[in-house]
Amino acid sequence: MAFASPLAAIFLIAFVFSILAVSYSVPFIVLHGIGDQCSNRGVTQFTELLSKYSGAEGFCIEIGDGAWDSWFMPLDEQARVVCDQVKEMKELSQGYNIVGLSQGNLIGRGVLEYCDGGPPVKNFISLGGPHAGTASVPLCGTGPLCIIADHLIKSHIYSDYIQAHLAPSGYLKLPNAISDYLAKCRFLPKLNNELPDERNSTYKERFSSLENLVLIMFEHDTVLIPKETSWFGYYPDGAFSPIILPNETQLYTEDWIGLRSLDEAGRVQYLSVSGNHLGISRGDMKKYVAPYLEEQKTRTPDQVRDGESAEVPLLRRLSSYEWPSSLKSFISELLELTGEKLLTGY
Ligand SMILES: *[C@@H]1O[C@H](CO)[C@@H](O)[C@H](O)[C@H]1NC(C)=O
Ligand SMILES: *[C@@H]1O[C@H](CO)[C@@H](O)[C@H](O)[C@H]1NC(C)=O
Repeated sequence: MAFASPLAAIFLIAFVFSILAVSYSVPFIVLHGIGDQCSNRGVTQFTELLSKYSGAEGFCIEIGDGAWDSWFMPLDEQARVVCDQVKEMKELSQGYNIVGLSQGNLIGRGVLEYCDGGPPVKNFISLGGPHAGTASVPLCGTGPLCIIADHLIKSHIYSDYIQAHLAPSGYLKLPNAISDYLAKCRFLPKLNNELPDERNSTYKERFSSLENLVLIMFEHDTVLIPKETSWFGYYPDGAFSPIILPNETQLYTEDWIGLRSLDEAGRVQYLSVSGNHLGISRGDMKKYVAPYLEEQKTRTPDQVRDGESAEVPLLRRLSSYEWPSSLKSFISELLELTGEKLLTGY
């Protein structure tokens, strides 16, 4: 093909490049929290708003059938499901960002640390993630079934059965049962390289390769105990106080997963926003989340306009963190397993 003039060729090339520059920005995936699913309006709206604010394409990644599996599929399996999906998605092959909601953050970190042959993860934005564990069993509610479930789970949380059948048992870290936690909890000790003889330097390498790690804590979070777990802060072994600052935990000082390396390189943002668990406002999404999803932009907080301080209304229901309604089969299996008898006829 011959061009009328070299100038025309230059214009054409410049034009093609400008299209490429405009149309390419790193896509992101959203990993929802427990009891939620991609088809729920709250998550759909959250993903759409972030796409709109950042100009990047966003995908909510579903695991199994959604809400049910988020409760009952072990987290390492959930991470494996996502790993397989991100490898299949052509859109992500040049790299992608992860936006985690609550439990979704641990799945995201599982993908980041464990997914062999997956596309590179660039930025990780965590909203209310139980990164250092949580010290409370997610509440079932008040019905008789729930009271039984809460009781059984509290007393058998590190049993093989619960570890294999209840996702949040993988990050329940009871400060008064640390030796059980380290010996029997299947997910978090490995993810956080907490076991002295089993530390895997690959996890650290991958974690510390992030461009930015954005840790958002909700000031009035009543779901994560303590809320500082969103920043990798936690209780000391053996006691429920005081709360140890993120940079004073052993995970940090001994740099088990590379958090310290990342922080010293200026790539960790510890942010705190108002609201209860996941109750983020549109303004804060614009200010603290969207900038990390935009390509090559100086990360100065965007202006927040009037009317944006309200919470994303449908996201509010994500914070309920309630048990799925159909629990009977799970509970009866538990009862059989633990040999406990019910007198109430449930
Ligand atoms: C460490 O983790 C990587 C990634 O999952 C895995 O390929 C490797 O075999 C692990 N190394 C050890 C010693 O377990
Ligand atoms: C940890 O960070 C806090 C600020 O968040 C700082 O005041 C403190 O000195 C740091 N501690 C260590 C051991 O670096």
